Amino acid sequence: MHIKVPAGLSRKEVEAYSRLDAARLPKHIAIIMDGNGRWAKRRHLPRIAGHRRGVDSVREVITLASNINIPYVTLYAFSVENWKRRPKAEVGFLMALLRRYLKHEMQLFMDNNVRLQYIGRVHELPQEVQERMAWAEKETSTNTGTVMTLALNYGARTELVDAFQSIVKKAISNGGIGHLEIDEDTISEHLYTNKNPDPDLVVRTSGEMRLSNFLLWQLAYAEIYVTQKLWPDFGGVDLLEAIAEFQKRERRYGGLGPGHMVEPGPEEQAVKR
Ligand code: FPP
Repeated sequence: MHIKVPAGLSRKEVEAYSRLDAARLPKHIAIIMDGNGRWAKRRHLPRIAGHRRGVDSVREVITLASNINIPYVTLYAFSVENWKRRPKAEVGFLMALLRRYLKHEMQLFMDNNVRLQYIGRVHELPQEVQERMAWAEKETSTNTGTVMTLALNYGARTELVDAFQSIVKKAISNGGIGHLEIDEDTISEHLYTNKNPDPDLVVRTSGEMRLSNFLLWQLAYAEIYVTQKLWPDFGGVDLLEAIAEFQKRERRYGGLGPGHMVEPGPEEQAVKR
């Protein structure tokens, strides 16, 4: 069978891509980038060296996702907890890194037709970071390829709190709380992610088996892929391996999946009789 391989892939990525079913790629991949600190520690380097290398992995993964036409990629960059639990100097470094990243990578975003957006309590970030973020979002706003969502000062529980507050606020200005009707769509519409489909695959690096307060509502039916690789060691081929694993899984959404009879079979009929 001849497989059409997209342009721009490395030799190893081409090999890994050829093993995939191109018609069943995930539409939205969410990634918990973990292990920068451990990567640095193993090399007797300061933690910030791991974050710096983490940026190279972001570049590689976004380029690959864009080359193979993954419509949405969401990256967990800073959690709400990160602010409280990390040394001030590290948080300051991460903020400076983000500002620099958005400027330096603009050419890559434009070359790859990537559109940037953010989720999280971004209004709590330093002013100069917010300004750079707004600039980058605007610059890429007419791009039509992969939508890259950066989760910054993000927490799924704070997202739900913000959603419920906004639902109530809207109800008050729309005739009062007595008219409030809430269903799953109402909640989804008030999440930061309301313009994106739910992820169908979530990848976590560095072996931890946790969701760490990431997209808890949206990941309800996502396939979870955990790799031992640390984020700075993760690249395009690793993402393709995660997709291969995703394609091996049978997605059932609470049903029985193919191969199960809906009507009772002859034996069950016999029992009934
Ligand atoms: C997790 O590693 C990583 C982070 C908290 C920050 C993620 C940031 C990057 C990948 C680089 C910057 C990204 C952008 C988009 C500019 P960790 O420090 O928790 O690692 P550890 O668990 O090994 O300590």
